[in-house]
Amino acid sequence: MTQTTRPNPLRDPMDRRIPRIAGPCALVMFGVTGDLATKKLMPAIYDLANRGLLPPGFALVGFARRDWATEDFAEVVHNAVKANARTPFREEVWKQLSEGIRFVAGELDDDAAFDRLKQTIQELDEARGTGGNHAFYLSIPPGLFPAVVGQLRSHGMSETTTSSWSRVVIEKPFGHDLRSAQELNEVVSTAFPSSSVFRIDHYLGKETVQNLLALRFANQMFEPVWNNNYVDHVQITMAEDIGIGGRAGYFDGIGAARDVIQNHLLQLLALTAMEEPTSFEARQLRAEKQKVLAAARPPERLDLYTARGRYAAAWAGGEKVGGYLDEPRIPPDSTTETYAAIRVDIDNRRWAGVPFYLRTGKRMPRRVTEIALGFKQAPHLPFAKTDTAELGYNALVLRIQPDEGVTLRFGAKVPGTQMEIREVNMDFAYGGSFTESSPEAYERLILDVLLGDPPLFPQHEEVELSWQILDPILDYWASLGTPPEDYEAGTWGPASADEMLARDGFAWRRP
Ligand SMILES: NC(=O)c1ccc[n+]([C@@H]2O[C@H](COP(=O)([O-])OP(=O)(O)OC[C@H]3O[C@@H](n4cnc5c(N)ncnc54)[C@H](OP(=O)(O)O)[C@@H]3O)[C@@H](O)[C@H]2O)c1
Repeated sequence: MTQTTRPNPLRDPMDRRIPRIAGPCALVMFGVTGDLATKKLMPAIYDLANRGLLPPGFALVGFARRDWATEDFAEVVHNAVKANARTPFREEVWKQLSEGIRFVAGELDDDAAFDRLKQTIQELDEARGTGGNHAFYLSIPPGLFPAVVGQLRSHGMSETTTSSWSRVVIEKPFGHDLRSAQELNEVVSTAFPSSSVFRIDHYLGKETVQNLLALRFANQMFEPVWNNNYVDHVQITMAEDIGIGGRAGYFDGIGAARDVIQNHLLQLLALTAMEEPTSFEARQLRAEKQKVLAAARPPERLDLYTARGRYAAAWAGGEKVGGYLDEPRIPPDSTTETYAAIRVDIDNRRWAGVPFYLRTGKRMPRRVTEIALGFKQAPHLPFAKTDTAELGYNALVLRIQPDEGVTLRFGAKVPGTQMEIREVNMDFAYGGSFTESSPEAYERLILDVLLGDPPLFPQHEEVELSWQILDPILDYWASLGTPPEDYEAGTWGPASADEMLARDGFAWRRP
């Protein structure tokens, strides 16, 4: 008798994709002329279409204060896709996508324009079968979030029913301090229930950040040493080698700490330090992140354990670059920091006594984001002192970008007749181990929004807890009334940041 073998969906990569194909829906984008929409969002939508992850009737609606027809907007999308998409351009994919493109012209305070928007998405529901499912992506300056949310509510576009959904996607920054974040949340929650609000922290969409969960919880060897018995400090770095570019209007007055530490770095800290969730379902994951953020606190001595800096003119990468104050549209009396470093302590059993150092800066020597766990020295070294003179500390480094992978640093014997120990690296590189290339973070996150899959989106509670950590530091810096300390462009930040770690017997990594 022959046995019939059923295909096993878990072994067939095509079948594994099926639950990740979005259902019928339309995505409405505000801010379509902006930098983010052009470089990331429109290309990500095309890449999703190219990977077969969007439904056949998918619709993309642009809303902007431009006197454009739908064809003009379609051309803008086409150009953005050609210039910035990750996957190859295929005419048949573009044709199908472009059939669902529409444009609505109007100002954000123009009621008639929002009436037209409503009519457009209702027509798409009929023509493209989008089924009343609409996501609204606010890729606009944060000060305009309340206006758009208010318009969506008053025009009846924010309601989720038993048969259709309405979701809002909010870009960072979510507020500029705890109070403004709470106020913004009040406005948003009058229109959308919390399950319909998707706050973007694009770091969480990165493969390497999700790999942190795989590394910690899919293996037996790391978790036993992932605590204060073995780890003596943690460094989380996000360094950029560029300056503020054309983003003076956004950056000045916000600064590095609000722009990066409040969201990306504290989210990385939460994922690094949290307990194992019972599942990766949103409620469980968020509960663990919230617990650890609630246990995290700013340093008591803000003068000793925070540092802020501002890049000054110097030679960097073989060219003379101006300082922050030389950038176009930066006022001469600006006190905005382009570098921020803080120490955070976590008051729980796992991490008591282990400082977490967070730093971010512009015009650093390299673009790099990494999480580095530094381990205690072995309790006894049965070697002559000279043998281990060049031995530093063991480290596990998660390289988030650009050179994605994991490094383990440890001491090894130098070949030769005598015992001499020096540090070596053992590397895992994504590029060397997997043939698949990593999707862009925005591909993953936009798809999650369309699928209604929320684990990678921070909830309001996490946002508030992060501001609670940062607010006292920002208040302290503001109270000083002095500009940040200068550091030369192309260096690793101000001297006070080095002193901050030296005080605890550590040094910043120079990746
Ligand atoms: N760029 C990034 O890499 C990045 C990264 C993370 C988060 N974000 C966030 O993403 C959002 C968009 O950033 P962006 O860099 O794309 O900004 P941007 O380049 O300044 O673009 C802003 C967009 O908003 C529109 N806009 C501005 N004022 C408006 C008004 N009064 N009425 C109607 N539309 C208005 C602009 O349209 P007009 O052309 O008509 O002015 C433009 O399309 C912001 O919340 C930002 O914080 C950006």
